Amino acid sequence: MHKTPELIVALDVGDLASASALVEQLYPTVTLFKVGLQLFTAEGPLAVEVVRQRGGAVFLDLKLHDIPNTVAGAVREAARLGAAMCTLHASGGRSMLQAATAAVAASGSPMRLLAVTVLTSLDSRGLEEVVGSKLDLTAQVVRLASLAQEAGLDGVVASPHEIGLLRATLGPSLCLVIPGIRPAWAAADDQRRVMTPHDATVAGADYLVIGRPITAATDPAKATRRILDELKAVAEDDTGSF
Ligand code: C5P
Repeated sequence: MHKTPELIVALDVGDLASASALVEQLYPTVTLFKVGLQLFTAEGPLAVEVVRQRGGAVFLDLKLHDIPNTVAGAVREAARLGAAMCTLHASGGRSMLQAATAAVAASGSPMRLLAVTVLTSLDSRGLEEVVGSKLDLTAQVVRLASLAQEAGLDGVVASPHEIGLLRATLGPSLCLVIPGIRPAWAAADDQRRVMTPHDATVAGADYLVIGRPITAATDPAKATRRILDELKAVAEDDTGSF
């Protein structure tokens, strides 16, 4: 039986009006929206408010990476804004990750913390340049995800091709948030190692982050329904197999 993942629509736009227009078109079919670096840099906390006022929840993708005290402070503010999920780099280290989880616990907020492991834009060469020695990229993803789990984070943001390995090594409770999703009918854009919503569901994703196949569609609501139908079909296939 496959769990149907929840859809997160990435509001990768540079102003509040465009973000609001998308939320207006998609809510309540979509209830979770990603506010990332572009929109947050442009509009700040108002971007979170616009989604929340409409009734939606926010995945605040800030990919924090700084000393523990600074990250704990930022995480505390993200929780105060009412974000449902927030991201930070696992490579910030154990103390930074623990300071962040402690800050959320102390705030009493249900906000979930997700770790970014190795950016999917880095290949083995790029990783070697950053760390100064040869490392197996996949092993590094697992090492960082495991560190995040040990430090008390709720899950990781991962490439669809890492779902199987992360599930197998870190177990079912780790929350897996998966970008790089492309329905068969959508353009790949600049994403390289993509997977369809169907296949990512079968692999075991908890959340799918989808941007341009929805936000750049002529009819974003229709594109969303097509994707949700694909997810529903996985559940129906399951039922059919009994
Ligand atoms: O438009 P698209 O569906 O490619 O958007 C994917 C979203 O997921 C973007 O907001 C992007 O920042 C994010 N993301 C990604 N790949 C990663 C991590 C995050 O595409 N490895």
